Amino acid sequence: MSTLITNIGELVTNDPQADDLLGIVTDAAVVLEGDRVAWTGAAADAPAADVHVDAGGRAVIPGFVDSHSHLVFAGDRAPEFAARMAGTPYAAGGIRTTVAATRAATDEQLTGRVAHLVAEMRRQGTTTVEIKSGYGLTVRDEARSLAIARLFTNETTFLGAHVVPEGSDPGEYVALVTGPMLEACAPYARWVDVFCERGAFDEDQAREIFRAGEAQGLRGRLHANQLGHGPGVRLAAELGLVAVDHCTYLDDADVAALADSGTVATLLPGVEFSTRQPYPDARRLLDAGVSVAIASDCNPGSSYTSSMPLCVALAVREMGMTPAEATYAATAGGAAALDRTDVGRLVPGSRADLVLLDAPSHVHLAYRPGVPLVAGTWVAGRPLDP
Ligand code: NIG
Ligand code: FE
Repeated sequence: MSTLITNIGELVTNDPQADDLLGIVTDAAVVLEGDRVAWTGAAADAPAADVHVDAGGRAVIPGFVDSHSHLVFAGDRAPEFAARMAGTPYAAGGIRTTVAATRAATDEQLTGRVAHLVAEMRRQGTTTVEIKSGYGLTVRDEARSLAIARLFTNETTFLGAHVVPEGSDPGEYVALVTGPMLEACAPYARWVDVFCERGAFDEDQAREIFRAGEAQGLRGRLHANQLGHGPGVRLAAELGLVAVDHCTYLDDADVAALADSGTVATLLPGVEFSTRQPYPDARRLLDAGVSVAIASDCNPGSSYTSSMPLCVALAVREMGMTPAEATYAATAGGAAALDRTDVGRLVPGSRADLVLLDAPSHVHLAYRPGVPLVAGTWVAGRPLDP
């Protein structure tokens, strides 16, 4: 079955061949055929299709690619958030609160929670999501977290190295992560991640975990430089990882290393919002030629938002990005952070994941913060129920 969406005031294609960053076509149309984009161009030239949708002059953009989330958890940490807003700083140790709640939850409870959050994301225009484990921290709880995540996405990440669990010896825990835990988790994961930060795991431990992950066919991505300066970003660049996430505290050598390696810097402005930390300087990264993605980091501790439009607005207002750069980073940037070219863009052959905005242009994502602008979403060519 084919669908023609026409009378699109502004179509953001992110076409890499275009002269402008967003590959904008005005007075445009798109044809979807099965799960793919079959055609894009001027509405006047559009071919016929089985189903006809009138966009009413509004904007259509690629669905958001949220390349960083931690959706498999139980409990919430609202009291911790409230304490932070009263002056208590964020610390990695809060993860253990969620670990206890997650271990105590049933598979059904965890699955229901993920389903709820994924639905929440979809309503806000997210059509691809990456989901990490990391709140189980036992062989059983990490493996079941990933098995549950796999029900919702193929972009699953093993994050056994989130924090050393209460009462464990760090060396013995790394041996568990690189041994039996990895073995149990690898069948459900595409990626392996490490929280490389003071209070979590150091550079040598991260290297060891990536080496073991790679041997099991998992590709690396990294949490780094979130709470302070450190070796993580340079390690990610040295290892040629696809993405390194947070990048809040960077020195000149970190920025140069990212620019040279091509590693995508994934910025997570929901974290700085929710921890009251200084925002990362996206302008500095973009000016240095670094590829930038924006993601939600949706998790109960540092960023309990599922909203990519909020992240776009924060990136524009607080991180020095233009609306076009932030829109690109939340779509094509997220795709690059997952090493994907089939999503994050609307060109013939790409997956038919698109969002109709109740707005005339992408600029409104930042211009109208907090307003639910998603008027319609298609995932793999199928419209979501409104
Ligand atoms: O990406 N930084 C490490 N992990 C999560 C936070 C986890 C938590 O506080 O529960 C993050 O921010
Ligand atoms: Fe995270």
